[in-house]
Amino acid sequence: MDRATWLAERRAATIAEYDAEAAEYEAHLYPVTLQAGFVERVALLCPPGGTVLDAPCGTGRYFAVLASTGRRVVGIDQSAGMLAEAARKGIAASLAVVGLQEMAFAADFDGSVTIDAMENVPPEDWPTVLANLRRAVRPGGPVYLTVEEVVDAIVERAFAELSAAGLPAVRGEVIEGDVAGYHFYPGRERVLGWLAAAGLDVLDEAYEAGPNGEWGYRHFLTRVPGA
Ligand SMILES: C[S@@+](CC[C@H](N)C(=O)[O-])C[C@H]1O[C@@H](n2cnc3c(N)ncnc32)[C@H](O)[C@@H]1O
Repeated sequence: MDRATWLAERRAATIAEYDAEAAEYEAHLYPVTLQAGFVERVALLCPPGGTVLDAPCGTGRYFAVLASTGRRVVGIDQSAGMLAEAARKGIAASLAVVGLQEMAFAADFDGSVTIDAMENVPPEDWPTVLANLRRAVRPGGPVYLTVEEVVDAIVERAFAELSAAGLPAVRGEVIEGDVAGYHFYPGRERVLGWLAAAGLDVLDEAYEAGPNGEWGYRHFLTRVPGA
């Protein structure tokens, strides 16, 4: 199987997994906590009454945090099931079924948040996604994203197994376990390179490990230059 076909299958599997779990998504206890604080910081870096893009928003877990600051929120997601749950909250100014790779916004937002989703994006698509986020946000605006990390042993085991199965995977890709169809873990240095290439200035960075220490989320608060 060629890599493009395999990645298209993995993306379809990711959409199907989130569509299927949408109704239960927020019932799962979430063992990491820094996201909400960063979301509030992003909102407060935007002008009062400004609009924040939540991409992808999933069920809108962070809509209330954004709205509580007096900012408007617009959400996109590639899963119609997750967006249906987000719509039930009645908070977002608008919602659309759009992929991170296909977003065509241009200076429509004062800031953006991309929470716990970049692990579903393959390496080939990272530059496109970062360019789409940067273009969506007005000069000077904050662009926040989380990046999941796992211990090397998980990455190495997955790469060995996928390669042995004849699949066109690259190191960092993990398919088995709780990965919603596909995960890719680029690692901090590679992400910093992509952020620099996209022209996003890093304002702050943090890391929080999950309970078993095998995984965690790195947080990048960045800014579109200018203004
Ligand atoms: C773990 S959920 C996080 C949702 C929300 N940001 C939150 O923090 O609760 C991951 C979300 O990313 C969405 N997603 C994954 N890959 C995507 C892509 N390429 N384009 C748009 N949405 C994507 C999934 O459909 C899912 O709703």
